[in-house]
Amino acid sequence: MLKKTYETTLIGQADLVRKNRYGDGVWIRGLLEFTNRCRQNCLYCGLRRDNSRVRRYSLDEEEIFASVNQGYRAGIRTFVLQGGEDPAWPALRLCRTVEDIKRRAPEAAVTLSCGIMEREDYRALASAGTDRYLLRFETCDGELHRLLRDGVSLSERLKALIDLREAGIELGSGFMVGLPGETEEISRGNLTLCRDLDLDMVGIGPFIANPETPLAHCPSGSMEETVRLTAMLRLMLPDTNIPATTAAGSLSPGGREAMLAAGANVLMPNITPPRYRDHYRLYPGKTRLELDHLPELDSISEALIKAGRRMDMGKGNSISWKRRVESTRSRPLHRRPPDGSI
Ligand code: 5AD
Ligand code: SF4
Repeated sequence: MLKKTYETTLIGQADLVRKNRYGDGVWIRGLLEFTNRCRQNCLYCGLRRDNSRVRRYSLDEEEIFASVNQGYRAGIRTFVLQGGEDPAWPALRLCRTVEDIKRRAPEAAVTLSCGIMEREDYRALASAGTDRYLLRFETCDGELHRLLRDGVSLSERLKALIDLREAGIELGSGFMVGLPGETEEISRGNLTLCRDLDLDMVGIGPFIANPETPLAHCPSGSMEETVRLTAMLRLMLPDTNIPATTAAGSLSPGGREAMLAAGANVLMPNITPPRYRDHYRLYPGKTRLELDHLPELDSISEALIKAGRRMDMGKGNSISWKRRVESTRSRPLHRRPPDGSI
């Protein structure tokens, strides 16, 4: 009982902070899952290189532009290009694609989420116009990270996050809730790491066991815990953007709504061409929040209004990011880093 009251208060407080900082608007981002090929072998993920049951695909540039164009005409002003670490998509190709999107959709922001790259690659992506980058650290525990990510070290991930920050890109990261082997201490550490990284976006979602992976028989993460951690994040990082994630919607029918009520302020409807969508199987039961036709935007809008919120099609920079940009502008020129990064 006491726990319930505490949680209701926690969620209520987080909701108030969200309202105070961001108002009732929910930023809409178009999510384009442009390649499901991946050279990595994370134990939890259905796109891992050893999973031979996935039909692999990669969109070509024309398909990407067509999807972006459709979303842009529907009013979307942020596009998230997400994929595995696909060697067919090196930084140079991504740079050209971002430049082209920016030419065709000048008011749009482009977010990339394509894994670990070299420092120079992130700089090139920033110069090409990449606005934001999402790279979850997944878990703050070094040993668990190495184990679940098949040998990739946490420090490599953290270095990539620092490189992205130095490249001057709005920075998103986050973690999975309830990974096998996670302890309470690790869970607390995940929150602390988000705060220490001073993130502009934090994406979290429950771990969902995927039958096509070595973690098939592990218990999935809990929705209640995901909602509780969302509220804690909003209180710890009041100015960050927090999406209500697909994994939450997939684990339980009202999962995304529960995150929105606990401090989240972003939704990412899927704009991947329908013929590819079923093959982007990070985990089973991925829910549909799709955007193929304008009426779907209307139904998202109606659902938000019912929940006392409103769809916001703006570019949706986080408050923390705006402050970061402001503080660079007000810094004397001679004290800025020579490459213009912030
Ligand atoms: N359950 C939940 N989330 C997953 N991801 C990958 N596999 C799973 C899974 N089985 C998440 C990771 C990754 C993001 C793209 O999807 O956090 O960063
Ligand atoms: Fe690849 Fe990302 Fe899946 Fe790991 S989580 S296998 S890096 S797509």
